[in-house]
Amino acid sequence: MVKVPTKLVTWDEIVEWSMGLAEVIKSSGFRPDVVVAVSRGGYIPARLVCDFMLVDNLISIQSQHWTEAAKVAEKALIKYPYKVDLSGQRALLVDDIVDTGDTLILARDFILSEWKPKELKIAALQWISPVAKIKPDFYYIEVKDWMWFQYPWTRHEDTVQFIKRALSEEGKSKKVWSFEEIRNVFIEYYGIDVGEVYFKLALKSLVDLGFLKEEGGKYFIKV
Ligand code: ADE
Repeated sequence: MVKVPTKLVTWDEIVEWSMGLAEVIKSSGFRPDVVVAVSRGGYIPARLVCDFMLVDNLISIQSQHWTEAAKVAEKALIKYPYKVDLSGQRALLVDDIVDTGDTLILARDFILSEWKPKELKIAALQWISPVAKIKPDFYYIEVKDWMWFQYPWTRHEDTVQFIKRALSEEGKSKKVWSFEEIRNVFIEYYGIDVGEVYFKLALKSLVDLGFLKEEGGKYFIKV
C-alpha cells in the first residue's frame, strides 16, 4: 500500500506543462514586462515561461516555509526582503505549484506593497484546487486529489527525505537494511522509482549526514 501518493514528473512533462501555461497566459492577452520566479520551485517554470513568451526580464523572490524551533506550526517568510522598483510594470509571479498557497500569498502581498507593480498576475504549472487558499490567474493543470509531485529539480532532496522518513518509521523494529530492501520499502511507501543513480546518491548523502552507516554492503540506522 502506497503511504504517500506521489507522481514522478519528468523533464519532458515540465517543458510541455510550461509551454501549455505560456499558451494560457498568451491567450488571455496578458503580456508581462517582468517575470518574478518564486524561489526555489518557480525558477525553472519561470525561465521556461520567459522563453515561450519571449520575455527578457526575470527576477526572483524567495518565499519559504520555515518551522520555528519551539513550534510545530509552519510560517512563511520572505527570506531576502530586498526592494525592486516595479512601478509602471506588468509583473507575472510564477511558481511550480499552488498547494496551500501560503508562500505565494506572502510573495504576492510583499511585491504589491514593496515593489509596487502596475499590475501583478499569478501563474503556476499546477493548482491543487481543494486545498489552495488562492486560485492563480493562470494554471495549466488543476489537481483534484492532493499528491506529492516529485519534480526533477527536487529529485535528490526528495529522495533523501523520503528514504529518511520511511526508514525512521520502519527502523523502530528493523535497524539493518540491504540496498534492495531500502529500494523496496521506498517503492512501497511512495509508489515511484527514482532510478538507481538518484537512489545511490541519496544513500550516500544519508551516510554523510550521519543518519546511516554503511558497512559491507549493509546500511545501519544510526539514530
Ligand atoms: N510543494 C508544495 N506542495 C507540493 C506538492 N504537493 N508537490 C510538490 N511540491 C510541492
